[in-house]
Amino acid sequence: MGGDFEVIKKDVMGRIGILRTKSGKIETPTILPVINPKNIVVSPRKMKRIGADAVITNSYIIYSSPKLKERARKEGLHKMLQFDGPIMTDSGSFQLSVYGDIDIESKEILRFQREIGSDICVPIDIPTKPDEKWDKAKKDVEITLERLREMKEIKREFEDLSLVAPIQGSTHKDLREMSAREAGKLDFDIYAIGAVVPLLEEYRYRDLVDVVLHSKFNLPLNRPVHLFGAGHPMTFSLAVLMGCDLFDSAAYVLYAMDKRYLTVNGTHKLSELRYFPCNCPVCSEYSPREVMESGEDERTRLLALHNLYESFSEIKRIKQAIVDGRLWELVQIRCRSHPRLLDALRNLIRYSGEMERFDPSTKSAFFYGGIESNERTEVLRYRRKLEAMEIKKTPALITTLNRELEDFEEVYYLKPPFGPFPKELEETYPFNCETPDIFDEEMVKTALGNVIILIENEKNRGKEILFEYDERYNHPLIEEVKRYTEVKKGRCDLKC
Ligand code: GUN
Ligand code: ZN
Repeated sequence: MGGDFEVIKKDVMGRIGILRTKSGKIETPTILPVINPKNIVVSPRKMKRIGADAVITNSYIIYSSPKLKERARKEGLHKMLQFDGPIMTDSGSFQLSVYGDIDIESKEILRFQREIGSDICVPIDIPTKPDEKWDKAKKDVEITLERLREMKEIKREFEDLSLVAPIQGSTHKDLREMSAREAGKLDFDIYAIGAVVPLLEEYRYRDLVDVVLHSKFNLPLNRPVHLFGAGHPMTFSLAVLMGCDLFDSAAYVLYAMDKRYLTVNGTHKLSELRYFPCNCPVCSEYSPREVMESGEDERTRLLALHNLYESFSEIKRIKQAIVDGRLWELVQIRCRSHPRLLDALRNLIRYSGEMERFDPSTKSAFFYGGIESNERTEVLRYRRKLEAMEIKKTPALITTLNRELEDFEEVYYLKPPFGPFPKELEETYPFNCETPDIFDEEMVKTALGNVIILIENEKNRGKEILFEYDERYNHPLIEEVKRYTEVKKGRCDLKC
């Protein structure tokens, strides 16, 4: 198979990677804009200039139209769509989920995809709708897995192509896990998490987090993960943080047809926009009114173009955030655009303990961005370290004073959300974190929790830790530590 994937940079579970296909490479994370071969609104050539390394089209639409079928067979997809980069072809699964039935078998449509020159081929999976009964959802997963297993027989015919294994299981976490685990054993080039469109349409981002993570935790790490149908730029950074590498977007054109304008913060109705909050070529040349008053086709084209520019600039922002080690911060900002996204973020941090093992331990910055920062992977990692830590030298001191401390062999500074950390590490990540000077309750609580872990650990070993603080500051964290240790005066013995 032809699915070489190389990860070149990581942050949390997000990564920048290079996927090689027979028609060239794709730098991930990225979106593959959907091309409807019956209605091309933005030319694939233009898409390439906006940033698309690859595009996706639907092989079933081509197969079921005699005219398109003949053309695709004769010319090949690349000539027909006038795009020389990688082309992914979806199967008829979407039609299956909408109309309930299609007249072709998985092997047949795969062979058709190969015949017309596709680079990335998708078998027919069964997209089970959310909240489906467990038994039915399980049966659907088993059928999809059976089709993946039967592809073994035809794999030789697909040697230079990339093959996709769809992951299903509705909203059942155990079924997503099973689907991912079993498909993961079959060595596909790309894994694609399916049937999330209904969740996205209903703003069920919290469920999206469960579905993606229970799949992702069970998939091979050295393979790219596609998230089917997630085309709104508002959700890209969240999905990338969870380890999704590829997206396909029909949203850019579907929203455009509906006179809607996409931004990273949500969707606007064109009719309600007095100003364009963007400076892409469309938005700098036209006013909302001028776009509104263009003819229907031109209006759709202009909106689709803006939607693509917005989507690809978000992809670039995400990639730069990965380079900077700032993906958590970007996701925290994006998830403040909608309360349902904030639910997703709050659900996401419950998985921090599991995500921690993927997150690189050396980065340069940690910016406190709200109460979720207390549950970031780095904070959990430090808490685990503290729990296992033994202070080697005595006496030890936790201090908030800035003075010479020769008397003490081991000195800890106190700073939320990490709490006590060895003073030598003050300038290093993550203790060099930037936090607001006005503390919130959560960061104080998190830091206090770590102070308690350290003190109690040492107490169990019969050792003592001293606590020293600056009386001039009315520092809420100091107050909490004092309360915990019932200290009244400036310097105290934490053995108390
Ligand atoms: N497009 C959107 N969702 C899906 C899915 O679950 N499977 C396939 N094959 N295509 C999709
Ligand atoms: Zn624009």
